[in-house]
Amino acid sequence: MCWIFAYVWTEDCRKNLVEWLRMLEYRWYDSAGLICVWEEKEIFLEKAVGRVSALASKVDEKIEKEKNEQSWLFTSWIAHTRWATHGGVTESNTHPHYSGSQRFYIVHNGIIENYKELKKSLETKYTYYSETDTEVVAKLIEDMYDGNLKSTIEKVSEKLTWAYSLAVIDVQHPEHIIAIKLWSPLIVWKGENGVYLSSDINALSQLTESFTILEDNEMVVIESKKYHIYMAWERVQREAEEVGEVSSMSELWDFSSFTEKEIFEIPSILENVFSGRINFEEKIIHNETLEVLAEEEIEKICIIASGSSSFAWWVGGYFFRKYAGVPCETIISSEFLADIFLPEKKTLYVFLSQSGETADVRESMKIVKAKGCKTFGIVNVVGSTIARMSDAWLFSHAGIEVGVASTKNVIAQVGVLLLMALSFGSKRNLQISEIRDIITELASLPDKIQEVCLKAPHIRKLSEKYAHYKHFFVLWRNMMYPVALEASLKIKELSYVHSEAYSAWELKHGPLALVSPEFPTIVFNPSGKHYHKTISNIEEVRAREGKILGFISKNDTHKEVYTDCIELPDTSELLSVFTSLTASYLFALYLAEKLWRDVDKPRNLAKSVTVE
Ligand code: M6R
Repeated sequence: MCWIFAYVWTEDCRKNLVEWLRMLEYRWYDSAGLICVWEEKEIFLEKAVGRVSALASKVDEKIEKEKNEQSWLFTSWIAHTRWATHGGVTESNTHPHYSGSQRFYIVHNGIIENYKELKKSLETKYTYYSETDTEVVAKLIEDMYDGNLKSTIEKVSEKLTWAYSLAVIDVQHPEHIIAIKLWSPLIVWKGENGVYLSSDINALSQLTESFTILEDNEMVVIESKKYHIYMAWERVQREAEEVGEVSSMSELWDFSSFTEKEIFEIPSILENVFSGRINFEEKIIHNETLEVLAEEEIEKICIIASGSSSFAWWVGGYFFRKYAGVPCETIISSEFLADIFLPEKKTLYVFLSQSGETADVRESMKIVKAKGCKTFGIVNVVGSTIARMSDAWLFSHAGIEVGVASTKNVIAQVGVLLLMALSFGSKRNLQISEIRDIITELASLPDKIQEVCLKAPHIRKLSEKYAHYKHFFVLWRNMMYPVALEASLKIKELSYVHSEAYSAWELKHGPLALVSPEFPTIVFNPSGKHYHKTISNIEEVRAREGKILGFISKNDTHKEVYTDCIELPDTSELLSVFTSLTASYLFALYLAEKLWRDVDKPRNLAKSVTVE
């Protein structure tokens, strides 16, 4: 599903091949492959199932064997890391795929929806070796080849339905590489020794801060050390864009995983989120984008996102209702797509996405934009599709997130949503004194999170104690609802253990039947107006011999009701959202570690979901 490509004219790029591929491993990791074609039309094709490291060993071995036998001046190469969509995780399904005569090689990110019909139409001419949609495109290119690869790809692209970005290499003309994109991201950069192409901004941003981002339906023809962009046969003149702030790929330092490191980064991420947006001295929200937005005639907010980002928006919904008095509807992007859209002109449509590339969020945004409604993006990856499509935006400033499970970015998103709600509130009915109190509290938030991180050894111990259970309930009330949903998702995705988030209120309407000594319950119960009712719900679970792990505040007065507890710093109910989320991330992480899961790359998942 995702790939990176580099074209090098004057350099032996063998040593760089695997290094570049590794930059993408954090996103997809089912299998990886590459092909290099050099001057004399020699090819170097390698594929491996599993991590990029498996491909790396194969490539290293091959390079070692052929050392000194020839000087390798690769003219071009295309490479790919795959997240399986069509066909299992096998070497034959791994990209690059090739045409019948093995003249054209192709890598592809996306899905070709009409591949079955295309496959059938070519069945009598070609034998297929894989189950992929991509192989069909390779065969089609050969079938439609008119002596010119550019015009052939243009014609082929007219036959393809749905999202893709693809790059093609013609072994007979290795001095060219042609790539085309519709919806799936694609960026190009001219470096010192050649032209680089990537479907991942984070990967290329390790090399440069300025690149050209292709628009839908654009084609790039790379030749030697230059490239040209075309749209509908016409050459398009476009300078590379300064994308500005880019994140550098992080180092692991002494952490056991990137996921752990990213959780421990939360205090500093929150400082980034607040920096330049809150004036702590004057205790005001101070950000131009937010000020302009808060002045607009907006009667309702509609927040659209998926996965963990959707839980962040859920918290945001409470903030908007509570602090800004603005109705806020929150919708999962895939459901938004499936539903009927009734545009509301005075509604602000907010799109939340870490990657800025999530397919159903992006497609929802297109629908909203097509109806002339105002869009606002909260995105982490600078230069990403959703950031670029938004009418206005704020970055979540979480830095590059390597762990597939989103952690620090979710907290950053919640922080941005809070600032937005406070800014809206300041122009509506929120008392200045209340804003000042919240800002005073926010100043201490990074330290409070630090306190939670210091509890990591205790949290680890409890995770280990609970690691043999096969199921968990995660209970919540009110603002803690999305926290419970997010905590439950983290348990599932990191440790592969079944977990269900449920309203503490709702429990006795059915799910209580599941409670037993073997089905422990995690409860988020910070002090606040729902505290006592939740204690009653806990008693109901206890009466059925259910074990209770409480995420509670230090000054909880009913500690005896919990089987075990994780005491969080004393905060307001508002800040307990941040502290509880952080603690729940540590719990899920250590649970997964105890079960020997690969926490940075949970099975079956992808960091960026660019297909619907
Ligand atoms: O990049 P996005 O924030 O749009 O991604 C949304 C979800 O795919 C993502 O949050 C996913 O649920 C993660 N695995 C959660 O940890």
